[in-house]
Amino acid sequence: MVCVQAPVVLHAEQIHKSFGEDEILAGVSIEVREGELVSIIGPSGCGKSTFLRCLNFLERPDRGRVSVLGVSIARDGGPWRRADEHAAHKLRTHVGMVFQSFNLFPHLTVLDNVLLAPRVVKGERNATMRDEAMALLEKVGLRQVADRYPVSLSGGQQQRAAIARALAMRPEIMLYDEPTSALDPIVAEEVLGVMRTLDDEGMTQIVVTHDMRFARLASDMVIYMDAGQVVEAAPPEALFVNPQDERTRRFLRTVL
Ligand SMILES: Nc1ncnc2c1ncn2[C@@H]1O[C@H](COP(=O)(O)OP(=O)(O)OP(=O)(O)O)[C@@H](O)[C@H]1O
Ligand SMILES: [Mg+2]
Repeated sequence: MVCVQAPVVLHAEQIHKSFGEDEILAGVSIEVREGELVSIIGPSGCGKSTFLRCLNFLERPDRGRVSVLGVSIARDGGPWRRADEHAAHKLRTHVGMVFQSFNLFPHLTVLDNVLLAPRVVKGERNATMRDEAMALLEKVGLRQVADRYPVSLSGGQQQRAAIARALAMRPEIMLYDEPTSALDPIVAEEVLGVMRTLDDEGMTQIVVTHDMRFARLASDMVIYMDAGQVVEAAPPEALFVNPQDERTRRFLRTVL
């Protein structure tokens, strides 16, 4: 859900990334407005995850610029400097990330998973955070299992716990890399429901997904990537019904 006048909160400009001789991202640019839900789709290996990771500098772009809510990091092929690390740290305070494989800490309860990052990173006290963490668990439908360990939860519950954990840092933007592809369709729907709720509340979200139904029904904007480039970016009905580029058409024919 996005209002036309909403400000741009994330801007990636001409992101380049190579691994060895292979150029994986060949100048990827996107602009995301506050409250937008953007899906990134495209064939396996086209660079979607690499691009998403570049947005919060889990992967360092070789060249290009990422700007998030007033924090801007430009790369020109030079070395990664202390100032870049400082800026990346600041940028990450605005950006939460959720992975396909949940990445919860197995030795901590669901509640402690949610409490850990604010405690360590922001130095906040358990007492002040606990109510907020329980409210987040309520929001994702996990209040009843707050004291259980991840191993005793279903995949869908674990992923919702991972979302609550990311939200505990109070990010303005959430990134998801195939959040439902390890899940069967019914529990996947619970996770997608949480993302829709966040969308209704105005959260800005960028989702790499192979779930074309979700991309079509829930997104404000769909980006089709191929071979390290953005081929086409359009609202879902335009992209799915009337794709402009032959590569998009071919991809959609194979997956729909
Ligand atoms: N750390 C790395 N070192 C070397 N090559 C890498 C690394 N990370 C990714 N790659 C390569 O970059 C290419 C793009 O990978 P990426 O994971 O971004 O694709 P993807 O679009 O997310 O694919 P999928 O849909 O299968 O998840 C692949 O060829 C991959 O092997
Ligand atoms: Mg991927």
